[in-house]
Amino acid sequence: MKNVIVTGATSGIGFAVCEALLSSNHKVIGIGRSAESCEKARRSLLEKNANADIIFFSADLMQLEEVKKISSEILEHISMHWNGKLDVLINNAGCVRSRYCTTKEGYEHQFALNHLSSFLLTYYLINPLIKAQGRVVITSSESHKGIKMNWNDLMFTRFYRPLRVYKQSKLANMLFAFGLNDRHSVYGLRAYCVDPGLVNTKIGEKQTYGLVNMVWSLRKKKGVTPDVPANSYLYLVESDNHPEGLYIHKNKPKEYSSYVNRENADRLWKISEKLCSIEFGRFQ
Ligand SMILES: NC(=O)c1ccc[n+]([C@@H]2O[C@H](COP(=O)([O-])OP(=O)(O)OC[C@H]3O[C@@H](n4cnc5c(N)ncnc54)[C@H](OP(=O)(O)O)[C@@H]3O)[C@@H](O)[C@H]2O)c1
Repeated sequence: MKNVIVTGATSGIGFAVCEALLSSNHKVIGIGRSAESCEKARRSLLEKNANADIIFFSADLMQLEEVKKISSEILEHISMHWNGKLDVLINNAGCVRSRYCTTKEGYEHQFALNHLSSFLLTYYLINPLIKAQGRVVITSSESHKGIKMNWNDLMFTRFYRPLRVYKQSKLANMLFAFGLNDRHSVYGLRAYCVDPGLVNTKIGEKQTYGLVNMVWSLRKKKGVTPDVPANSYLYLVESDNHPEGLYIHKNKPKEYSSYVNRENADRLWKISEKLCSIEFGRFQ
């Protein structure tokens, strides 16, 4: 039985991952955007499995202040109920936008939620993860391939191209996982990215309009149901020894972009630290 945190647990892939974990008797903390959606998801999970060990915390994770607040509540729960150990953190929450929107901190939505919130949540939870010799699993995508980071304007303030911004955030997931292994595998921690494939969820229809909304509503129909990629997460949670690979699809390592290397990972790491006003350090 593992102690697992899943972000974006109220719908789509994250919800299916919670279902899979709970049916294998793992203990789960789900994180969702609002108290209402968390309660709805909790009830639905308990309807399917009355003995499920599930608790939800709600936070708008694109607001970094909220990541900080929820982290202290979660750390208290881990210390009181999980013996200070977190086996797996699944950074899965994500969004798509049609136009340039910013958070309270002034950061672009997709960059803030899809990358910075994972970076900061992992920072706050690093000690229980290391105590458990645990794993960090991030939902990336094939769309990380064939692009570079837009270093001169990471948040696309000048010319906002929604799909390019989304792809960059999935590349940032890969660079973060690479950087995490570089710095923390020595302490027994391992990070992975999952390629879930094309999945039939509503991600491209939430807070979007026009072309982005229309393209996704057609494209998603070709996707698999969320329980299909949920198997890869279960595999990464349950494997006894840290599985080989960085980028995982259908329980196997998959080739990833050559842009995912130490130089680029370090560069993004330093920028992310600055944007989050933290110093990750090698071990806190
Ligand atoms: N669908 C695909 O084909 C596909 C392919 C590759 C990668 N992915 C990645 O898979 C992950 C999950 O996406 P999905 O397709 O399962 O879509 P989804 O059903 O929309 O799931 C996204 C989750 O993130 C949550 N979320 C959104 N904004 C949030 C915020 N500000 N604070 C906290 N939580 C927030 C959503 O909450 P609500 O329930 O309240 O909306 C939802 O639980 C994303 O990282 C996405 O980039 C998806």
